[in-house]
Amino acid sequence: MNGNRQGRLHGRVAVITGGASGIGAAAARLFVGEGARVVLGDLAQGAGEALAQELNGLAGAPVARFLRSDVTQLQEVEALVAAAERDFGRLDIMFNNAGIGSFGDTVTLDVAQWKQVIDVDLNGVFHGCKAAIPALRRAGGGAIVNTASISGIGADYGFAAYNAAKAAVINYTRTVALDHAAENIRCNAVCPGWIDTPLTEATSGIEPLARAWREAIPMRRAGNPEEIARVALFLASDEASYVTGTTVVADGGLTASNGQPNIPALLSGL
Ligand SMILES: NC(=O)c1ccc[n+]([C@@H]2O[C@H](COP(=O)([O-])OP(=O)(O)OC[C@H]3O[C@@H](n4cnc5c(N)ncnc54)[C@H](O)[C@@H]3O)[C@@H](O)[C@H]2O)c1
Repeated sequence: MNGNRQGRLHGRVAVITGGASGIGAAAARLFVGEGARVVLGDLAQGAGEALAQELNGLAGAPVARFLRSDVTQLQEVEALVAAAERDFGRLDIMFNNAGIGSFGDTVTLDVAQWKQVIDVDLNGVFHGCKAAIPALRRAGGGAIVNTASISGIGADYGFAAYNAAKAAVINYTRTVALDHAAENIRCNAVCPGWIDTPLTEATSGIEPLARAWREAIPMRRAGNPEEIARVALFLASDEASYVTGTTVVADGGLTASNGQPNIPALLSGL
């Protein structure tokens, strides 16, 4: 897959949570294509194993392995890091990407749903950092990339738990960056906008909703998972060697607007 070219992650070892689908699967393909070996964690065992097999087949070498792991369980995330060190010798990159959504405002959302979203989307990232940092130290440094969201920068209607969790991931990313910068461990977040993955399938499939989404996005389309994986690749690679504690937004321009109408377009239509 990598040929003779030395990829941007040549010799690096990465753990990717939520690695069986969407953005995580796209990152797995991209990272391996750039010379990394990867340990994929996810609840989706069939898809995860199939992807690891696909990557090993393409590379003609054992470059990927899958472990079923739930990010809400610290020990299961620690097992991913242990597998990276045992099977591939080290850990250089932790991509904390697993996540779920849940509709509901403060009144309609029940406590169990709130706790579940916080547990996966926020506690899962904490578990990933906690498990990875000792291994990154042993490797002499490394990079953590957390998948937050533009839903952590501004709020959405009816998305209370997700908004809270993703905003917390952004500020937690900063504190990890501060606490571990002197150890050569960088920590950054990627904030996707509307990305075409199984997570958004249900809503994207409703045409009036998809149309409203396209109209709100200056680039007039959803992003694809590779477009987020490429941001994660940049943040994980040495190209981002002086980048830490920040967030990179990839949203087709959605958050560039302050929400006011497109006045020139409206005037020209009068
Ligand atoms: N798709 C979007 O529009 C969008 C926008 C902003 C942020 N995000 C974020 O991107 C990340 C990846 O989402 P995606 O769009 O690729 O969705 P996806 O559903 O395709 O992938 C998410 C993966 O996480 C896994 N997962 C869920 N709970 C888990 C748990 N407890 N432990 C381990 N794995 C678990 C799922 O099985 C799935 O394979 C998420 O953090 C999501 O919040 C997505």
